[in-house]
Amino acid sequence: MKKSRTLFQYPNLLMLIGVWLGLAPTANYAQNAVVVPIETKNNALVLATDKANRLCITHFGKRLKNTADYAQIAQQHWNKDDNAGIYNAAYTSSGSTNLVEPALNITHADGNTSTELKYVRHESVQSDMNVVHTKIVLKDEIYAVEITLHYKTYANEDVVEQWAVIKNNEKGAIELEKYASANLYFAFENYYLTSYHGSWGREMKPEETLLTNGIKTLDSKLGARTNLFAPPTFQLSFDRPATEEEGKVLLGQLAWSGNFRIDFEMDSYHHLRLMAGINPHASEYPLEAGQEFTTPALIYTFSDHGKGAASRNLHRWAKKYRLLDGNGSRLTLLNNWEATYFDFDENKLTGLFKGAKKLGVDMFLLDDGWFGNKYPRNDDRAGLGDWQENVKKLPHGIGHLVKEATAAGVKFGIWLEPEMVNPKSELYEQHRDWVIRQPERPEHYFRNQLVLDLSNPEVQDFVFGILDNMFSKNPDIAFVKWDCNAVIYNAHSQYLAKTKQKQSKLYVDYVKGLYKVLDRVRAKYPNVDMMLCSGGGGRVDYGALKYFTEFWPSDNTDPLERVFIQWDYSYFYPAIATCNHVTDWSKVSIKYRCDVAMMGKMGFDIVVDHLSPNDLASAQKAITDYNAIKEVVWHGDLYRLSNPWEQPVASVMYVSEKQDKAVMFNYLVSNRFDFIYTIEPIQLRGLDPNKKYRVRELNVYPETKTTLDETAVYSGDFLMSVGYNPDVTLRRTSVVLEITQVN
Ligand code: DGJ
Repeated sequence: MKKSRTLFQYPNLLMLIGVWLGLAPTANYAQNAVVVPIETKNNALVLATDKANRLCITHFGKRLKNTADYAQIAQQHWNKDDNAGIYNAAYTSSGSTNLVEPALNITHADGNTSTELKYVRHESVQSDMNVVHTKIVLKDEIYAVEITLHYKTYANEDVVEQWAVIKNNEKGAIELEKYASANLYFAFENYYLTSYHGSWGREMKPEETLLTNGIKTLDSKLGARTNLFAPPTFQLSFDRPATEEEGKVLLGQLAWSGNFRIDFEMDSYHHLRLMAGINPHASEYPLEAGQEFTTPALIYTFSDHGKGAASRNLHRWAKKYRLLDGNGSRLTLLNNWEATYFDFDENKLTGLFKGAKKLGVDMFLLDDGWFGNKYPRNDDRAGLGDWQENVKKLPHGIGHLVKEATAAGVKFGIWLEPEMVNPKSELYEQHRDWVIRQPERPEHYFRNQLVLDLSNPEVQDFVFGILDNMFSKNPDIAFVKWDCNAVIYNAHSQYLAKTKQKQSKLYVDYVKGLYKVLDRVRAKYPNVDMMLCSGGGGRVDYGALKYFTEFWPSDNTDPLERVFIQWDYSYFYPAIATCNHVTDWSKVSIKYRCDVAMMGKMGFDIVVDHLSPNDLASAQKAITDYNAIKEVVWHGDLYRLSNPWEQPVASVMYVSEKQDKAVMFNYLVSNRFDFIYTIEPIQLRGLDPNKKYRVRELNVYPETKTTLDETAVYSGDFLMSVGYNPDVTLRRTSVVLEITQVN
């Protein structure tokens, strides 16, 4: 590992004094150390045993040309004080000589709380040219606990998935108090963490901070909808803050849809320890003799060429390996949520189907409010849980709507919120025992609702049944919007109480229960498009996105706000997964709204008949143009060109794999006098310098003309070195450009 720079950062004072007194430093590395390199195309994480047979991290960063060289790294480090082999442990345990933040904390069957892990064996299995799965087994020499560290590498994408399996081979039950997925160790000059926070309508607000001594913790304890407080997602720049094009940066995420905790601890060598996993808060997890616990994975990619390269790697990985149908196609849609809220009936809806067709989208999505009879869902205070069509609003049922939509020439999709219940519902009356609530305390509601107890297998069956019934009765349903609007208050499970299990399992078993349901849904209905939604972007992570084709980033659809929200999501998620809808949230022009929505998976949430003729023509044109470029947006590479947090114009582009087609989106995000037009050209990225391109403006508003010379031909070299001025002004607040190779 690279040595820390300043004298004061040499922490092993004892050793220095020893050297000064003429004592030779004792090496803590072994001559015959076992060295396990976890390599991707450009990077390596190197693990090696020390003299005490502990597994340590000796390198994180650039991959070396000769694998044999990894064995020599440990000898170059003089961290030989009492912390040697502990700070940089591959999976830090607790209760004996470790005094820093652990990855693992266990109470053994006899009540003892000490664990010390030693290396036992490892193996690597290559499943194809790109993917290698390495397993390293560690054991305690006194207590029969076995930890297997898993590292799955995706070479070309430079992505690692890292998790742990904890096996209890003791005679009785043990208790897991902390059980991180991953433990990492970095040795650089400085560490800059970008984390995200937010609340409803304000998702993914970034914050960059220089990490100092002590621990910085990212966490959420909301149970469900955890991102409402913070997502399990971060960027970590090394040495200095990375930019789009330069610098060392790691993008990471815990792929888990529940409570999480990610600790960044600076040690006394000025090295950084990272522990990421399920939040141990109120979540001690018992493990019976013979049982094992598999943690969720930490997913990360590292680049020493800036954030742009890192996020393109993550996008490629997500599309190929994680997101459901990541390389497929998606449906453009018209949603009725903001168009009608709860106020609709069959006639109104069939009218909207025609609007969808007129607009030119693929599908109509029926949102909240279609169900509940004893307690009709006419607002958010009643009906949730009673998944029968409301006979007043929909006398002929969903089947009729599917037929009507098909007759109007569009597909049909439906909104569900299957994990939740209003206390004013038949479900609540019949199954209070299925609800997460403290039996002795007053109920406390989030959006007038409570969360169903997914740790209970009966509840899992019920939730699966909602989707199963819907699809069996209406096999032509093309899309589901799966919503989740409440956090977990009063975390108590009657099921766990009845089955004499510990209440502290609830937060974990809730998420496991959710994944079990989703596994069943996908086993039976592998192809239906599903949107992951949670009162906006309250649940977006790669644990859940395995089951979903796309996600809803935020209920905030103000296009100006959206430029920022989409910008920050774009570091982690590909455009094909990011649903952007045109709504009436702001008075900004329909063109600007459409242009912003085009930068992902496009949808609408408006009453088409309320549009003026020109606005209608503009929206129709936006869809036609979108259909022409969506392949590039969905499957191309993303380049962020101009940052809205720093510049008056936000600019991003997508480039096809063959570099023959690109799309550039430009949005004015400031009204300040000095900033009302693009003075300088913006340098494009990702093109072939040797190819020639023509630039054409898309989605030009009816009865206006582009100000650009569309006949000019530019070399890729010119466009990337000099740049191109999209002529963004107060009259042209958003400009979408198609860049096409000319032969
Ligand atoms: C929250 C979602 O984010 C909205 O889009 C909408 O579906 C409402 N729920 C419906 O209650």
